[in-house]
Amino acid sequence: MSVPMPLDQQQILSQIQPELRAVVQEIHIFPSLDSTNAWLLAQPNHCFGICLAEEQTAGRGRRGRVWQSPKSGNIYFSLRWCFEQVPAHYACLGLVVGVAVAEALAEYGLEGQMLKWPNDIYYQGQKLGGILLQTAQPLQQVVIGIGLNTGMSLEAGASIDQTWCDLSEIMQQSIDRNRLIAAILRQLIPALQAFPQFNLPSFKQQWQRWDWLDQQPVQVDTGRERWQGIACGLDEQGQLQVALADGSRRAFSSAEVSVRQLS
Ligand code: BTN
Repeated sequence: MSVPMPLDQQQILSQIQPELRAVVQEIHIFPSLDSTNAWLLAQPNHCFGICLAEEQTAGRGRRGRVWQSPKSGNIYFSLRWCFEQVPAHYACLGLVVGVAVAEALAEYGLEGQMLKWPNDIYYQGQKLGGILLQTAQPLQQVVIGIGLNTGMSLEAGASIDQTWCDLSEIMQQSIDRNRLIAAILRQLIPALQAFPQFNLPSFKQQWQRWDWLDQQPVQVDTGRERWQGIACGLDEQGQLQVALADGSRRAFSSAEVSVRQLS
């Protein structure tokens, strides 16, 4: 693949609506950072901020994992957001962010992307990206980190410890990251603005469209116990519902589980 176009604030801002531009104002872009999430978390008194980096030297993944972040044309994106108070459905925020990213990828022209509960972006059973939410102080602030493989070479991705894929390979073209980031902002900011009025019953329908695990056999590992069953969507708290062999259903919260699809 050809050398990726650099990340460019003006390119991104020119592709979002004026009302969103008024919210975003400035995008902090770095050639290299330890972690875009960590940088935003360290900013004092910031209610809003966006940070991008060409590479991360200590990229963070969920469950204490490392997020491989070479300088090869991937997206390392973080956004800091401030709610007036901790939203009632805070546990569903990661799901909402996932849907925003899936919709943005669709706007970009991708078909076939899916979401693996709770926070993975998948394409044909392989991980295309991930989302990491970290709470800032005070507690109604959150840093939303999105990592997307948009230019991961085989060499750079060799140390990734799960099956992964790359958008430039899937689409057979180099990715205009500025255009894709603008699409993410067009989806994500209105979703965050609406989140205090979040309505789970209507969101469940949106989620179902992207739900990779729906009706699939899964194994859920809570650290203490291991469960097997058939995934069957979200329950009333946005937890993953699993139908067990004895006919009962059990719900799992994202904080306590890792989920593996069984082939
Ligand atoms: C996952 O484990 O699936 C979540 C990965 C999140 C990675 C992104 S890259 C931008 C932001 N900065 C980080 O250090 N992590 C997130």
